[in-house]
Amino acid sequence: MKTIKQHAIWGHRGTFILAATGSAVGLGNIWKFPYIAGENGGGAFVLMYLVFILLIGVPVMMAEVTLGRHGRANPIDAVSKIARQSGASPMWNLIGWSGVIAGFLILSFYSVVAGWSLEYFGAAARGHFVGLDGETAGAAFNALLANPWRLFGWQSAFIAMTVLVVAFGVTRGLETAVRLLMPLLFVLLLVLLVYAVTAGDFAAGWRFMFGFDPAGLSWGAASLALGHAFFTLSLAMGAIMAYGSYMPGKASVGKMVFAVAALDTLVALIAGLAIFPIVFATPGLSPAEGPGLMFISLPVAFGSMQAGVFFGAAFFALVALAAWSSTISLLEPGVAYVAERFNIQRWTANVLIAGSAWLLGIGSVLSFNVWQDMSLLLGMNVFNFLDFFTQRVMLPLGGLLMALFVGWVVRRELLHHEVRPASETLFSAWLWLLKYLCPAALLVILLAGLWDQFS
Ligand code: PHE
Repeated sequence: MKTIKQHAIWGHRGTFILAATGSAVGLGNIWKFPYIAGENGGGAFVLMYLVFILLIGVPVMMAEVTLGRHGRANPIDAVSKIARQSGASPMWNLIGWSGVIAGFLILSFYSVVAGWSLEYFGAAARGHFVGLDGETAGAAFNALLANPWRLFGWQSAFIAMTVLVVAFGVTRGLETAVRLLMPLLFVLLLVLLVYAVTAGDFAAGWRFMFGFDPAGLSWGAASLALGHAFFTLSLAMGAIMAYGSYMPGKASVGKMVFAVAALDTLVALIAGLAIFPIVFATPGLSPAEGPGLMFISLPVAFGSMQAGVFFGAAFFALVALAAWSSTISLLEPGVAYVAERFNIQRWTANVLIAGSAWLLGIGSVLSFNVWQDMSLLLGMNVFNFLDFFTQRVMLPLGGLLMALFVGWVVRRELLHHEVRPASETLFSAWLWLLKYLCPAALLVILLAGLWDQFS
């Protein structure tokens, strides 16, 4: 029989919080959250999102961390082990498989978009935004997307950056990286916030983010907010489970998870408060710009502002760092699985998995140009299909299975022992949410997502 290598443990108490926050904070917070809030009218959407983070995101994240820490293995083996201990079918390890595979698929296209932030960092720093108007900015963005070689180059760079960290292992690679990256990320974010307060129209940005307009409450917006709450917390992708499996036994699962959810939310809100005041201060720009908010509107805004070269570069550096700490967490679960299961070197596992994600990513690169109109499945190109399938199908399905597994199947004493709850009432409330509210909500996102696609 092959020997299983000792599973690593983070070397510092706070590393789980930094690493999980690094995973959670990414393009979802800085790129997507502001633009979907913008398209859905601001305040009401933000409020729904906050409620979903608290009632659905936090309990599911606690479930995921608990599985990882109790299993002390990669997501697939961790779930198998716990299913065995609870006398349940080993088939539940589908949860682990779905997470590891979803993480791999997301890595393949996330690194393509993440690569754009490197291009924009360079453009900002070289002063290319100065005096830019909306039309030119739009044309420049389209020209980038139309150039497969450029996209490929940036995607490759991003995968290489990710491999570099993951190859050094849990404590020397991941831990070192997040301990350096996360403080830097927060400093950049605060610098940009101060800039928005002083140079932007902060009052308008604030009103937009927190002004409550009941007209914004709709079913479509609710399912979008719920799906986003899940994606932004990196749930059901193996990442949080893998990071939880490195968490020291003494740390409190509830407190750690709460801290991560709070930090992730804070970053999304601050990102909105840094972006919208700048957009509102620039004539001709609208907050409901959609995906182009970051790559078209913001360059125009920075280009027309005092010290925009410096702050524009700082902004895109922030985006790149945030995306980097997320891609690391997308690669880690698969590498942990292959290295532990086949007892091979992490380097080899890393090159194998990242290499495959890189090759698959070429399909997403081409989806913005040569293969834009190709129909892979359901009339979608590679990028759109992977985005739809991971976020609209695998994520809610994996989350649903996980809530059901932890809520109904895993032995209660095992959970109690692992979570060591501060109060029995909180523990029962957690289980109640996992048994009823979370599965119901996840089923709704799953059906709403499919309905959206097929209606
Ligand atoms: N949470 C990340 C974001 O908001 C994306 C992500 C999903 C990262 C799943 C890892 C795992 O951008």
